[in-house]
Amino acid sequence: MRLGVNIDHIATVRQARRGAVPDPVEAALTCERAGADGIVCHLREDRRHIQDADVRRLRRAITTRFNLEMSIAPSVVRVALAVKPDQVTLVPERRQELTTEGGLDVAKLLPALRPLIRRFQARGIAVSLFIDPIERQLAAARKSGAGVIELHTGRYANARDRARAPSAAGWATGVPSAARLTATPARARELEALQRAARRGRALGLAVAAGHGLDYANAAAVAKIPEIEELNIGFSIIAHALSVGLETAVREMVTLMQREEAHAVSA
Ligand code: PXP
Repeated sequence: MRLGVNIDHIATVRQARRGAVPDPVEAALTCERAGADGIVCHLREDRRHIQDADVRRLRRAITTRFNLEMSIAPSVVRVALAVKPDQVTLVPERRQELTTEGGLDVAKLLPALRPLIRRFQARGIAVSLFIDPIERQLAAARKSGAGVIELHTGRYANARDRARAPSAAGWATGVPSAARLTATPARARELEALQRAARRGRALGLAVAAGHGLDYANAAAVAKIPEIEELNIGFSIIAHALSVGLETAVREMVTLMQREEAHAVSA
């Protein structure tokens, strides 16, 4: 299973002073050294963190896969077509939101998405659609012509009725075993929805990724889902990096994912 590291929040810190540091490109190279299989960033319409120049520099600097998250706003589409990342991941975007809140309504946007997806693909850019793990969106994604879906794990990550909150020490150290979450009804339901959607996506011929809100405690169960090929994780890794450094934070997540994948295969 591949790990894509989202580096938006390196740029969030830089933008706090509108300076040159910390540099998301340097961070991307550190993530690659630590075993990341790809670099993800979100060029938002309000440019609150990643800037156009970052996207151009990332394209030149990184040697793994470059996955550009974006809305379908024409101004951002223009940048993406010019920069030519390996993949674009289309997400919904609201100016007021703190982060992406839900999946793209592919079913509703199908007439607009189809020609746009063809444009990207004609330019050699793979297209992923960030969707909620529900049948309506899976079926629409299949019709859209996109080759990849990213299942929105936010509902799973935010499932409220935790039987036991992870210990503060677990979060702080990021030690996966200390922070492992207990399955609870709501979390289990959301996990089942992801498992079902991953199976269905694969059956429809789509490559399946997942992401949003994943951390050192809750990523383990998702990493076990055999049809999921890639996890895209940002905030928890960057937050953990403040304690242990970015290279260690990425290595810990890579190790966690590999261990869970190996357990799933041997189980
Ligand atoms: N995948 C997608 C499509 C996203 O929009 C985001 C957030 O930018 C992520 C993954 C990463 O989410 P998080 O920062 O919560 O790990």
